[in-house]
Amino acid sequence: MTRIIGVIQVKGGAGRSTVSTNLAGELSKIGKTILIDCDLPQGTSASWYAVRHQAGKAGALVSDTATSYRELVTKVEQSADADYIVLDGPPRIAELTRATLVLADICLIPVGASAAEIWATGDILELIEEASKVKQINARMIWTRYRPQTRLAQSLTELAKAELGLKALGTSLGMRVSYMEALGEGLTVAELADPSARLEVEFLVKEVKQLLKAKS
Ligand SMILES: Nc1ncnc2c1ncn2[C@@H]1O[C@H](COP(=O)(O)OP(=O)(O)OP(=O)(O)O)[C@@H](O)[C@H]1O
Ligand SMILES: [Mg+2]
Repeated sequence: MTRIIGVIQVKGGAGRSTVSTNLAGELSKIGKTILIDCDLPQGTSASWYAVRHQAGKAGALVSDTATSYRELVTKVEQSADADYIVLDGPPRIAELTRATLVLADICLIPVGASAAEIWATGDILELIEEASKVKQINARMIWTRYRPQTRLAQSLTELAKAELGLKALGTSLGMRVSYMEALGEGLTVAELADPSARLEVEFLVKEVKQLLKAKS
């Protein structure tokens, strides 16, 4: 059975491609995985995949792109043999963001450690509410560039709780140079020599798998 994980956020630069590429790269080690980049012409995930493929490291991961709702639905339908599909969504409230929400078994919403990203996430709540009329939406926020034990982290956690009331994943991705390096090198952070980052992505995969299992 194909499980679809959507990664959406209306604020650019929040970490959608970082979450998508790390998740897709690691999920491909346990099953056939398709990473669909819905953020063209930028195409960060598609570029990451091209570097990975050229280095002979694609393994069971394939990549595709979609520029419209119709195209995305068609590509998802054509991927029935995949175990996982990861959708890297666009940075705006667009048709493709709505489509991702509706198609996905779970949606991850990366929130970088700034109040601006928490406010922007508020706009997604309306989308979730709208999409909930069509089907039950399973969405979780995930902290990225997180710096635990800082005053900022604490106040942002409180702000997120008060403003959003959206459940967060237990996993958060810390502010680490490895995430930047891995993106440019077509790798996941688990493939770099950074044990802390590796643990984060391992936790992420584990938590996503648990959520998918709980849903089935
Ligand atoms: N946890 C992190 N630690 C350090 N840098 C990070 C982290 N997450 C993301 N970045 C960096 O922040 C930048 C933006 O991240 P990313 O491309 O994943 O975001 P995005 O939401 O996909 O952005 P865009 O709107 O450009 O598509 C990238 O340079 C990325 O390497
Ligand atoms: Mg991106």
